[in-house]
Amino acid sequence: MNDTPLNVPPEKIPQHVAIIMDGNGRWAISRGLPRVAGHKAGTENLRRVIRSTVEFGIKYLTIYAFSTENWGRPPEEVQGLMGILQDVIDRELNELHDEGVQLRHIGRLERLDPKIQAKVLHAIELTKNNDRLILNIAWNYGGRDEIICAIQKILKDGIAPDDVTSELVSRYLFTVGVPDPDLVIRTSGELRISNFLIWQAAYSEWYVTPTFWPDFDKDEYRRALEIFAQRDRRYGGVSEAVANKARNG
Ligand code: IPE
Ligand code: IPE
Ligand code: MG
Repeated sequence: MNDTPLNVPPEKIPQHVAIIMDGNGRWAISRGLPRVAGHKAGTENLRRVIRSTVEFGIKYLTIYAFSTENWGRPPEEVQGLMGILQDVIDRELNELHDEGVQLRHIGRLERLDPKIQAKVLHAIELTKNNDRLILNIAWNYGGRDEIICAIQKILKDGIAPDDVTSELVSRYLFTVGVPDPDLVIRTSGELRISNFLIWQAAYSEWYVTPTFWPDFDKDEYRRALEIFAQRDRRYGGVSEAVANKARNG
């Protein structure tokens, strides 16, 4: 079943998909397991989703893995998540590099344990010339924090108020050089943005599914892309058909 071809014309494939990987804890609890077991299962699923993303011909993938608010969780869970990040880098880096994945980090790196910082910086350096897939890992990321950080840098650079444009702000965000996400996927059914890409997702399309992240498989990913391909993205304007009718009477 997993081999079903993607029924989407190339021009309708999103350039950038961003995912709020939610529901690991509930996935684990529903199986009588500790929450950290859900995070481990979520990581296994991420491996599969990265491979599918490459296969579907998507160029940019951003994954929300640890938010600035997630520090408020019980210390064992925060520790568990930090440990998982390190294990994933140790275990997966070489394979991702061989597959042409460029790793990037978005969020405040300087607030992480120095050992984690070193691992992340090594992964970024090793993969910086890869271009098959740009994988942004949002870790200690918050959209408001990103905007605060951008404002601080803009002020420090002495930018004149009249020179502050949408393009300029975009260049000061952690996502500099990355196109805005076309599609945001959120698993586990929550209908909120949870401080993810609040600037960049201004005109993103959304796909929300009740499926918990560890169970979000290739079939459902394909379905999300097929639904996305049907969307009429108007950006506050009118659809092509309406515009033509207005022109031609
Ligand atoms: C998402 O799963 C992973 C992180 C936020 C780190 P959750 O841990 O939020 O799982 P639920 O939402 O509690 O089920
Ligand atoms: C969003 O999920 C953050 C990540 C997936 C990393 P949360 O579980 O933290 O968000 P809320 O608490 O449901 O809004
Ligand atoms: Mg959650």
